[in-house]
Amino acid sequence: MTRHQPPASPLLDHCPPTLPGHAYHSADWFAQEQRTIWARNWVAAGRLADLMPGSMRRLRVGAASVILCRATDGGLSAFHNVCRHRGAELCGQDAAPLGRLIACPYHAWSYAACDGHLVATGHACPTSDFRREDHGLLPVAVTVWSGFVLVNLSRDPGPLHPDMGLGSLDNWPMADLVTGHRIVRDLACNWKVFWENYNECLHCPGIHPELCDMVPVYGRGLMAADEAPERAPDTGGRVLREGAVSWTPDGQPCGPEFPGLTPEERQNGFNFVTLYPAMYVVAHVDHVRAVRLEPTGPESTRLTAEWYFPAGTLARPGFDAAEIASFATLVIDQDGAAAEMNQRGLRSPAYQRGRLMPEEYAIADFHAWVLGQMAEEEQG
Ligand code: FES
Ligand SMILES: [Fe+2]
Repeated sequence: MTRHQPPASPLLDHCPPTLPGHAYHSADWFAQEQRTIWARNWVAAGRLADLMPGSMRRLRVGAASVILCRATDGGLSAFHNVCRHRGAELCGQDAAPLGRLIACPYHAWSYAACDGHLVATGHACPTSDFRREDHGLLPVAVTVWSGFVLVNLSRDPGPLHPDMGLGSLDNWPMADLVTGHRIVRDLACNWKVFWENYNECLHCPGIHPELCDMVPVYGRGLMAADEAPERAPDTGGRVLREGAVSWTPDGQPCGPEFPGLTPEERQNGFNFVTLYPAMYVVAHVDHVRAVRLEPTGPESTRLTAEWYFPAGTLARPGFDAAEIASFATLVIDQDGAAAEMNQRGLRSPAYQRGRLMPEEYAIADFHAWVLGQMAEEEQG
């Protein structure tokens, strides 16, 4: 029997409660997130091309300090930033040169950069009960996707999850793009507050006048026209305003458009890929940007945004990547200010929980994801 399907609408048919207020400032909640969400998922750590051969970088992944190593031959490895002798920090800087060995600055134990095995124990002469092979650096899983490096603290990490929509950047030459601009913001908000703001557009008319001009459907408080067709402006299928093709200050492409995009990808004007918990990517017809989040405390989050271009675009005479990035930077800073405003209110002892509106279906999905991750048994 064929059933008539009603028009698909993602809007919720009820108004569920939000997470409790303490989810955004409690040290205990934050610590549990670090042991579950941040210790078990692939966490974006920047572009492979920005990690020069012969260098290492120190990262924070959840509660762990991690060193990401790129050997002179280009090989990639990652380890916990802790010595197996008596636990000293191995790398005390955000970035450092890397040779064949990683030496502990305390008593000079040294480890092979390629696989972390213990090579020497400095001036110490261990007895026969000590087995070098049992005292290599503690490895961290590392992979590369679309030119991004991702690390995973889990001892048994699964693949990058297919339900993240990872295929949707297949038509962009991601691995060849070059970082042209970067901004870093230290936001006074819980990391989830930023993601919640990302997941709804009810705030767009009030917070983002320039963006609403660029993307007319946002001016109605919607994320996409299919949410509420009767409320969406008729743009003839275009998502960006008439005459605009990219998120640049004048809406014009900043260089040649990528040749492999489908007509729909071109018409969209932007294509989002979300990789919880740490990154989203927005791919335009002429350039791509990514935003990474690193929780630095229950009420603080470091945001790093980068813009990627074809090398030929960056080399154009007079090309100014900061100018091209200024449109999205404005939007990111508006969102950052909104997230900090939200955080200040969430601290109120009078606030218990809020309610989600039907248009906030993507926040409901995010909350379900967070709670599901935290409910899973913690790894030993
Ligand atoms: S703690 Fe690293 S060599 Fe002693
Ligand atoms: Fe926003």
